Amino acid sequence: MTQTNNIKVLVTGGLGYIGSHTVVELQNAGFNVVILDNLSNSTIDVLEGITKITGITPDFYSLDLRSKEDIKPFFKTHSDISGVVHFAASKAVGESVQKPLFYYQNNVTTLINVLQELKSIECQNFIFSSSCTVYGEADSLPITETSPIKPAVSPYGNTKQISEEILRDICVINRKFKTVALRYFNPIGAHSSGYIGELPLGVPQNLVPYITQTAIGVREQLPVFGDDYPTEDGTCIRDYIHVVDVAKAHVVALNRLLNSQQESNYEVFNIGTGNGSSVLQVIESFEEVTNQKLNYKIVDRRLGDVTSAYADTTKANTILGWKARFSLDDAMRDAWNWEKKIRTKK
Ligand code: NAD
Ligand code: UFG
Repeated sequence: MTQTNNIKVLVTGGLGYIGSHTVVELQNAGFNVVILDNLSNSTIDVLEGITKITGITPDFYSLDLRSKEDIKPFFKTHSDISGVVHFAASKAVGESVQKPLFYYQNNVTTLINVLQELKSIECQNFIFSSSCTVYGEADSLPITETSPIKPAVSPYGNTKQISEEILRDICVINRKFKTVALRYFNPIGAHSSGYIGELPLGVPQNLVPYITQTAIGVREQLPVFGDDYPTEDGTCIRDYIHVVDVAKAHVVALNRLLNSQQESNYEVFNIGTGNGSSVLQVIESFEEVTNQKLNYKIVDRRLGDVTSAYADTTKANTILGWKARFSLDDAMRDAWNWEKKIRTKK
């Protein structure tokens, strides 16, 4: 076991959706967490949520990773950082098509800026947020880590592929630098306390926040994008994973880095449940756990959606020693609990 008490971990994007849940798990595991976030897709209230859950307020710095000048003094002061969990990035696929330069700058330049600073403080443990989007429409299911990387269909997806390549290149030339890239499938849900969760700005692009906003009356009707896919019920299949399970994977990966347990200094793991659910099955789960009917309508397919994507999680289960514990029903219950909490706060 790692003695975590004095181990300082930097979490970039730590006030965001997955970042905040990961900060909770890191603090619960005894790590000393420092968050760096520019609040471009989060709010300072998240810090309060983390404090309520863990009893600890992490150190927080409102800084933009695009600015080398701004972050330099931060890394000078925190030269004792032992590991970094790098979440900070923009993630809206559609927006990335409209603003490719912004996405390359905010997702790739920021990664380079962090890596340059880490070199100067000799921090060698790095966890990167990648995505199953790198597999595109996979040739076979479930998707293993050796499935071919497909040409990206969006600038966002491309930033994940480029970032993985940058990290792989660094690991080749610097054998002491250690990276774990976690390829998340579809993180959903919220902390069971209801103190932290997902905060989509404007109209949600993702299925689960659209469902909960429809159920609470913020949206009139959920559009289900296509029921003519070659799947059992005609709707797309994804591997929906509870965000707390995703968060816990980071703690395990960090311990692996700190204990030098890696088989190679660049490792990739799928982070999913291993189960695929269709859009209609997700709706059904929501209806069951909340005991209400959801207003939805089948509409045309959405451009760019793959038919099916779900993970083979054998590598994460056996090598990383991590396994998703929560069910789809658990995640839907927690997503609904969170939706109700944020609406009553306003
Ligand atoms: P999020 O938007 O909730 O969190 C990202 C955080 O990074 C936000 O708090 C934002 O303010 C911050 N940030 C963005 N640009 C920054 C910058 N230049 N400087 C400092 N902070 C900055 O997103 P999330 O869902 O928590 O995703 C976290 C990571 O996981 C991202 O890299 C995302 O691409 C990746 N990912 C997410 C999903 C998903 O479905 N949520 C799936 C696969 C991969
Ligand atoms: N869907 C609907 N109606 C909606 C929203 C989504 O029917 O209003 C459907 C989609 O068509 C898809 C499924 O629900 O079949 C899941 O869609 P999401 O947008 O929730 O998730 P995606 O799988 O499309 O995308 C997610 C992340 C991306 C990441 C990608 C990797 O949002 O950032 O996984 O595959 F790149």
